[in-house]
Amino acid sequence: MAYETIVVEVEDSVALIRLNRPEALNALNSRLLEELAAAVSAADSNDKVRCIILTGSDKAFAAGADIREMADKSFVDVFTEDLFTISTEAILRCRKPIVAAVSGYALGGGCELAMMCDFIIASDTAKFGQPEINLGTMAGIGGSQRLTRFVGKSKSMDMHLTGRFMDASEAERSGLVSRVVPSAKLLPEAMAAARKIAEKSAISVMAVKEAVNRSYETTLREGLLFERRLFHALFATEDQKEGMGAFLEKREPQFRDR
Ligand code: HXC
Repeated sequence: MAYETIVVEVEDSVALIRLNRPEALNALNSRLLEELAAAVSAADSNDKVRCIILTGSDKAFAAGADIREMADKSFVDVFTEDLFTISTEAILRCRKPIVAAVSGYALGGGCELAMMCDFIIASDTAKFGQPEINLGTMAGIGGSQRLTRFVGKSKSMDMHLTGRFMDASEAERSGLVSRVVPSAKLLPEAMAAARKIAEKSAISVMAVKEAVNRSYETTLREGLLFERRLFHALFATEDQKEGMGAFLEKREPQFRDR
């Protein structure tokens, strides 16, 4: 598929997907979301890819859903086309880790898209927000649910109700992002993290992703049982023997995803 609104590069087992609508601060229009879904699905089924990075430009990860495209739609339009449902499914279905590398604005649907990824590395210029309230609307692809789980009710309410932005250091303090780095170091840092993940056993990586995500879907007791059974199951893999054997033999493990 020839992409118009994103750029995809695969290097060192990492697929780097860059949102690329600079004229609209990477606002998420239907074309971009369709291309993003296709690129994530392609990376997920590409054996050469072990980790995915999703990024934007220095100025904007994404300034939200495309307001121009949405402005004239009616309830019947958005309800019948089930706006944003299909296009976001591919991201949620992806079994490989997705790291969001966020610089500049991550607003509305942009903030929600970053939160759909597995973790967020932010540049010190990043600004997160759910300003849909200013448009007479509200979050629509997970903001009210995910932001609340990540930063707690009080801060989430504050962000959604006032529409204020959160800078990178507040985002790190509140647990929204895993690390903050100077702007120039954002992609190198994300690439280094992705390469590190790519060195691990793909089976353990997938199991970790499933287990951590399950913690948002279930009770603690069920989540602990799910984790314990996955942990037990990994003893059936050659990679567990290799990983523990390599430690005892004081050498680097050679994982084979088996
Ligand atoms: C369409 C957008 C856009 C958006 C920016 N642009 N955000 N176009 N949809 N979400 C366009 C502007 O219209 C402008 O185009 C160009 O990008 C540059 O933006 P400026 O406003 O001139 O830049 P600046 O003054 O630097 O301000 C940056 C900004 C502001 C603070 C990020 O653009 C802004 O407030 N954007 C909207 C943020 C927002 O409300 N997001 C939530 C959207 S609703 P022209 O052609 O004029 O040069 C949403 C719903 C989620 O996300 C629900 C499910 C997905």
